[in-house]
Amino acid sequence: MTAVPGYRQQPPVEWDPTTPVDPAEAEEFLRRCHAENPHFGPVEPRLADVRARIAATGTYDHTPAELTYGAKLAWRNSSRCIGRLYWQSLTVLDRRHVRGSAQIFSLLVQHLTTAAGEARPGRAAVPIRPVISVFAPAVPGRPYARIWNEQLIRYAGYRTGDGRVVGDPRYVEFTESMRDLGWRGKGEAFDVLPLAIETPEEGVRLYDLPEHAVLEVPLAHPEHDGFAELGLRWHAVPAIANMRLSIGGIDYPLAPFNGWYMGTEIGARNLADADRYNLLPVVARLFGLDTSHEESLWRDRALVEVNRAVLWSFDRAGVRISDHHTESRRFLKHVEREERYGRRVPADWTWIVPPVSGGLTPVFHRYYDEMDLRPNFLLDAEALELGRTGRPAPTRE
Ligand code: ARG
Repeated sequence: MTAVPGYRQQPPVEWDPTTPVDPAEAEEFLRRCHAENPHFGPVEPRLADVRARIAATGTYDHTPAELTYGAKLAWRNSSRCIGRLYWQSLTVLDRRHVRGSAQIFSLLVQHLTTAAGEARPGRAAVPIRPVISVFAPAVPGRPYARIWNEQLIRYAGYRTGDGRVVGDPRYVEFTESMRDLGWRGKGEAFDVLPLAIETPEEGVRLYDLPEHAVLEVPLAHPEHDGFAELGLRWHAVPAIANMRLSIGGIDYPLAPFNGWYMGTEIGARNLADADRYNLLPVVARLFGLDTSHEESLWRDRALVEVNRAVLWSFDRAGVRISDHHTESRRFLKHVEREERYGRRVPADWTWIVPPVSGGLTPVFHRYYDEMDLRPNFLLDAEALELGRTGRPAPTRE
């Protein structure tokens, strides 16, 4: 990772998977669940039951309704997410009973087809659905299943002989590790990485996603025909796979979730960042921009063209995406709506403000409450490292 001076990187979480469930956290969650959902009935009997379970076993089980609402609350509390207006629409797939990497893999494939439908050429438009698959909770003191990948769908990166990178530079190390484990990629710019699924019984196993589970959009530009010839594409579903879902003191280390893309994530970061696909110089050349000095604002102009291409191409393919102006307005609507319910919305300005045209969007012109609420999705230091390197820390065999 490149260190940017002065950049406030939120510290990753240190998690101790051996500690029993905190009864206070369980209680707080259950009270909120029942308060926000009158049809759950009175909370007291449930609290008595859960307290007894924790005292006896160190943990407790969520009912399906608690799990579903807890996952939605984790989304609602995600202070970096601009897309929270729709938090109640999350589809929660309860996979807690599933064991074994082959089973896990087939349900991850199902997750992706639930989110985006089957990817087939010429398919009519299907909207992307926000989905989470919740696998078994961590039992205090026992090993648990996890996915090494940062996201279910990501592209490999290969260092070439002359020191350049083909593919996504962010995953060069991860790709090398997959190769050491026996995986072979085509060596092209958009090779989908295998899923590295680790279970206590089977260790790590690699699985290639079938084509029908990976909806992708080829990128073209509404006016410049040459753009399509760059051969760019991006996947339709961003599905974070390495964050721990924490609900009422219970940890779900394997709980991948997805929404739909905001265009700038692809056009202003994945394809534009100098340490990612770094396409601005290429696009500036294509558009004949003057790159000899900064004041021509060639970077900014190229950036806008890449972002237009992303939005235009997804729309053309009928794949759900939104632009940063629309998504900013929706976020403020979410803040307003939450305030009507007497709730404050935790938000991290540095993540909420889009990476292009910040000041043109209404989310720029105000401050937010920075609170770390539970339930939530947490990124553990070890998961962060594993997602980047594909190599487990030596402490865990
Ligand atoms: N920014 C990440 C990416 O480019 C995805 C993060 C989640 N995004 C979302 N729209 N739910 O892949």
